[in-house]
Amino acid sequence: MFAAARPARGGFWVAATRGAGVVGYVGLELSALGGEADVVNLAVDPAARRRGVGRALLDKAVAVCRARGVPLLWLRVRASNRGARRFYRRCGFHTVGRFRGYYERPPETAILMAVGTRAPASARRRAGRPLSTSASRRTRP
Ligand SMILES: CC(C)(COP(=O)(O)OP(=O)(O)OC[C@H]1O[C@@H](n2cnc3c(N)ncnc32)[C@H](O)[C@@H]1OP(=O)(O)O)[C@@H](O)C(=O)NCCC(=O)NCCS
Repeated sequence: MFAAARPARGGFWVAATRGAGVVGYVGLELSALGGEADVVNLAVDPAARRRGVGRALLDKAVAVCRARGVPLLWLRVRASNRGARRFYRRCGFHTVGRFRGYYERPPETAILMAVGTRAPASARRRAGRPLSTSASRRTRP
């Protein structure tokens, strides 16, 4: 399902394909010191949504972080993008802050969300669980 695309300046891009077509992608940028990573973009073809593609892409991003020893994965999402915010919560992300005026055209607040990458997927997805990056269990991606 996954194909790695061209890494750029510490970035690691993953695309999901079904048959011959690309149905979604996630962009992951690793920090220079390797202590954290950012989801810089994530999108699924409207025709392929609500079939688990987005979740599979995020799982892949978390697995890449874990394999590289990166314990924390961040992202920013427009405050008005309630569907995506709910999606990220369902994938185990927690809101950890807000940036007023972060986005332009239109100007909007960014919601900062994060997930610890070392916890198993079941623990990450448990609703309401506080962010933890201290779990020592590691599994292969
Ligand atoms: C957000 C996005 C990536 C989700 O992709 P997806 O493949 O549809 O997500 P999944 O099928 O893996 O969804 C997993 C769960 O997240 C939740 N979820 C996903 N999309 C949701 C939405 N629009 N509204 C509410 N909950 C949603 C659901 O609980 C879903 O499980 P369910 O379908 O069994 O109820 C997709 O809607 C998208 O590309 N949106 C436009 C781009 C965007 O907003 N990207 C994020 C920018 S930061």
